[in-house]
Amino acid sequence: MFIPVKVAGYEFRNPFVVGSGPTAKSITQLKEAEEQGWGGVSIKLTMDPDPYINLPPRYRWYKNLDYHIFTAETRLTFSEGLKLMDDARKETKEMILFGNFAYFGDEGLKGWVNMAKKFEEAGAHILEINFCCPNMSFTKEASGESSGPRSGASLGQDPELVGMIVKAMVESVQIPVFAKITPEGGNIGDVAKRAVENGASGISSVGNRLGMPPFDIYHPQKTTYNLQEGFSLGCLSGPWLKTEAEKDVFQIRKAIGTSPAVVGLGGIKTFQDVIEYAMVGADLFGICTETMVSGFGIVKKIGEGVQKYINEMGFSSFSEIRDKMLPYLKTSADIKTLPGYAIVDENLCNGCERCSKIGHCCAIEIKNKKAFVNKEKCLACSTCTDICPKSAIKMVTGKM
Ligand SMILES: Cc1cc2nc3c(=O)[nH]c(=O)nc-3n(C[C@H](O)[C@H](O)[C@H](O)COP(=O)(O)O)c2cc1C
Ligand code: SF4
Ligand code: SF4
Repeated sequence: MFIPVKVAGYEFRNPFVVGSGPTAKSITQLKEAEEQGWGGVSIKLTMDPDPYINLPPRYRWYKNLDYHIFTAETRLTFSEGLKLMDDARKETKEMILFGNFAYFGDEGLKGWVNMAKKFEEAGAHILEINFCCPNMSFTKEASGESSGPRSGASLGQDPELVGMIVKAMVESVQIPVFAKITPEGGNIGDVAKRAVENGASGISSVGNRLGMPPFDIYHPQKTTYNLQEGFSLGCLSGPWLKTEAEKDVFQIRKAIGTSPAVVGLGGIKTFQDVIEYAMVGADLFGICTETMVSGFGIVKKIGEGVQKYINEMGFSSFSEIRDKMLPYLKTSADIKTLPGYAIVDENLCNGCERCSKIGHCCAIEIKNKKAFVNKEKCLACSTCTDICPKSAIKMVTGKM
């Protein structure tokens, strides 16, 4: 299923990109992604000098909570990253390839520019500067320790540094430069704006948050990971993230205006997720965790769903969906509530009494094994409609 889009001067055969991570580390994976129909791949983070924290991967996937967490991870060395890009250009034809990298050595901008040029020479279509990895220096900073060399999410919170690095890249290469930025620090709009002012052709929104890993309250020394001693704050991803990550995309889009492109990442799993991201401002859709836990084949179902939606809604192209929700998203100062109250359908109510226990409500009484709402006392908050297991309560408009 192909849904062509044009972004940063490239024709993507569809807007779905394998997000940089463990499923974009080898040529075998990249070839499979191409075969399954992905529009692009951002290859695994490449670091120069060699990554200062590099461990074999240790992941946990809490499927019932829909989230993934990890700290230990293997990054690519500069030569590994360049070789993978070179191989990918030779062995794949249809996908747009993003080089995802970070420099943290002593040479400052010169080191960044060197990486950019080498990735361009190796055949990258787009450079995606990594201002987002939370698992290296930022885990140290967030734990109150000195970070040592700063990379990823440590750098990505600083609009000045991001702007400076982007500018140096843009002036040194011919291919588009994207900045992949962190929401940590609460500065994502400013950072995106500064990157764009300095020539970025796109912003990728990482989505990830650094969080406390689950731990055993009876044995707090025990790690949640298998085959790992000790644990740290970890990088959270997966579907639970979507509400936060969509907010990131929205804030970026508001800050930078209608262009350039935004790559939305964070918890995308279904075609509905893709449509939501497009409606709040994304042009491309990056998926990492879902490719880890379900494989590359997911792209087919997502693509079919998106195409069906486009047909049903009568859109003439995918790009028409972008920003569709933005006009309706108000600030809290601009929303208006309507008067009303809850009513109970006695035929559906089984008298379970759950609604009568709602802590902030004193409007519901149980009489003769049926719930009864005193509309004078009803605040019209609507919690009871969500609590009732029989869907026996609904809200009606009207004066209380
Ligand atoms: C195990 C793992 C490794 C990752 N490695 C990278 C990386 O090397 N470079 C990068 O920019 N993002 C990396 N990410 C972030 C993802 O590309 C993506 O932005 C984020 O996980 C949110 O999307 P998701 O919920 O689909 O995973 C990684 C994520 C995970 C889970
Ligand atoms: S929660 Fe629903 S079913 Fe239970 S008493 Fe209230 S209205 Fe009736
Ligand atoms: S709408 Fe709110 S206040 Fe009214 S009955 Fe339901 S829970 Fe109580």
